[in-house]
Amino acid sequence: MERTTSKSIIRITAWYAVFGGLWIASSDRLLEFLVADPHRITVMQTYKGWAFVAVSALLLALLVRRELLAREKTEQRLTASELKYRTLVEAANDAVIVAEADTGVIIDANRKAAELTGIPISSLIGMRQPDLHPAQDRQHCREVFEQVRSGGVIQTARCMSRREGSEIPVEISAGVIDIGGKKVVLSIYRDVSEHAAADERLRREKERARMYLDVADVILAVVGDDELVKLINRKGAEILGLPEEEIVGRNWFDSFVPEDLRASARAGFRKLLSGEAGPAGYAESPVLAKSGRERTIAWRHTLIRDEAGRVTAALSSGEDITDRKQAEEQASCRLGNLAALHAIDLMITSTQDLRVILRQFLDLVVAQFHVDAADVMLVNRHAPVLEYAAETGFHTAGIRRSSLRMGEGLAGIAALERRVISTPDLRDPASGFLRPNLIDGEGFVAYYAVPLVAKGIVKGVLEIMHRSPLVLDQEQREFLESLASQAAIAIDNASLFDELQRSNMELMLAYDATLEGWARALELRDRVTERHTERVSELTVSIARAMDLREEDIVHIRRGALLHDLGKIGIPDSILRKEGPLTDDERELMRQHPVYAFEMLKPIAYLRPALDIPYCHHERWDGDGYPRGLKGEQIPLAARIFALADIWDAIFSADRPYRRPLSRSEACDHIRGLAGNHLDPKVVEAFLRMDDQVCPVMPHSGKKEETVR
Ligand SMILES: [Fe+2]
Ligand SMILES: [Fe+2]
Repeated sequence: MERTTSKSIIRITAWYAVFGGLWIASSDRLLEFLVADPHRITVMQTYKGWAFVAVSALLLALLVRRELLAREKTEQRLTASELKYRTLVEAANDAVIVAEADTGVIIDANRKAAELTGIPISSLIGMRQPDLHPAQDRQHCREVFEQVRSGGVIQTARCMSRREGSEIPVEISAGVIDIGGKKVVLSIYRDVSEHAAADERLRREKERARMYLDVADVILAVVGDDELVKLINRKGAEILGLPEEEIVGRNWFDSFVPEDLRASARAGFRKLLSGEAGPAGYAESPVLAKSGRERTIAWRHTLIRDEAGRVTAALSSGEDITDRKQAEEQASCRLGNLAALHAIDLMITSTQDLRVILRQFLDLVVAQFHVDAADVMLVNRHAPVLEYAAETGFHTAGIRRSSLRMGEGLAGIAALERRVISTPDLRDPASGFLRPNLIDGEGFVAYYAVPLVAKGIVKGVLEIMHRSPLVLDQEQREFLESLASQAAIAIDNASLFDELQRSNMELMLAYDATLEGWARALELRDRVTERHTERVSELTVSIARAMDLREEDIVHIRRGALLHDLGKIGIPDSILRKEGPLTDDERELMRQHPVYAFEMLKPIAYLRPALDIPYCHHERWDGDGYPRGLKGEQIPLAARIFALADIWDAIFSADRPYRRPLSRSEACDHIRGLAGNHLDPKVVEAFLRMDDQVCPVMPHSGKKEETVR
């Protein structure tokens, strides 16, 4: 106001000075121009003076009036402005505090400020504005005040101290304004305690939710319909190997799905969001960690919708099953290995056929190690040479000509040094493989030779060949060696069995040859029909087979038939070879020959199962036989069968009393007539059933004939 007044005075004075100057400069010249008479000029000078007074008075009046009107208008505007300011300040819902810009002393405050601080307006006025804030904030407030004073408009969030000592969070907007020509700092304080409380609640809720998310031992990830990651929990960040803030905002598929699966994963995600795929489905798919390693995750998905029900994102929870899968695979692999070893165990117990064992072993190796071909070379029993024994997976037959000295070639070295030998590329001339011509056209690349060692002796070598690179890890190599050891045992067992069987066979042949020699010697002494023993033995065996007896029993039956009259060794020649009829004593002695046979053969364990025929071949079904008078089924079956064969052969024997040639049917009728008295009816029945096979066969010619003598 003072400034305005000074301006007005200066303005009026200036106008008056200008007018006075112009008057003085121009009035005398104008008068001299208009009036020539000097006397009249003097009179006119007087009038001119009066005129100057009148005009200058009028001018002053006009100027003062103008200035007063201007001032009145200004004051009116100020009043209106102040009224508006006051109204606004009072009506403001925020606290308004006006402080002197120079000192920071509060010169005005509204009702809301009093409510906010708990300090009456009258007390607020006169306080320093920084004192409204907690002690720890005051320095900051002073700095802010300085910034405001230098012309800035500041917005900040601080706390305000209440009278009773509590603090409330406020947002402060402050700027410098000019009130009545005086610079003041107008500060508006907004109570944000409710917002802060709400923010705090929200923060706690978020923290709690975050805690739940983080405590979960599964990946929790929210991927928006724009494919960007909206949220990831701690476990997810840990699995992906990146901090959470580097994951959120990234494209999930481009960043965390293996490249070869991205297209299908995206398609699945689109189907999920569109509702084509069920969200609750369980799926296993890998994620790509920062390290470049893949982890297998078992996912479940839930859709997230906005207020309008539109699907905006998918919440996926995923369990890292990588370790479990690996463990399962290892367990499965080990189970497979155990099964393979068990299969070899079964081979050992189920068959002794070396060719079958080798074939099964090679099939098992090829299947277990997923290789293209494998073969076994066995050590020759008589020379240090490895020779082909079995193969599988070869396209050509060249490998079957394989033969290597011990220490020669890779297989020979494996056998000699008893260690696994391998080469990554058989095509390399420096690989040491000496039989490339034998596998021409096979295209093999990788090669392993594994010695087959049983009981400390090298039995052979297993060779594995593959048409692409193959590297067995330590565990696979160990398993291969275990497999080879088991196979070597099987091979050893089969070889032993072969040898044993061969020896046994040779022994049995020797026994049988001996028995046949005995039988021939007896025939010579007894002067019975030539080859009688051989014929009855064959017929006895045929009848036994017709009666479905076991082959292992038939072997003993044949031996028993060969030795049926062995007991006659104990009969003196004078009786055995007597031409005429025997005396009663002689006959009685003769009837002892089955007993002699029994006593001779019983100590021989090998022939004990064959005793039935030598001991009982003269027993009769009706009990009238000798030496013990056994009856019916008391008589061993072998002896019952033999009795029929012996009679059948006797029918056709030249030195028997049958002189008239008998037809086949008559001979059969004769046998049929003996059923139930001399012979076992069941044996007779079985014999007659043989009909075309044996019954009509002539004992001497072995040919079918209509009649016999
Ligand atoms: Fe006899
Ligand atoms: Fe006989």
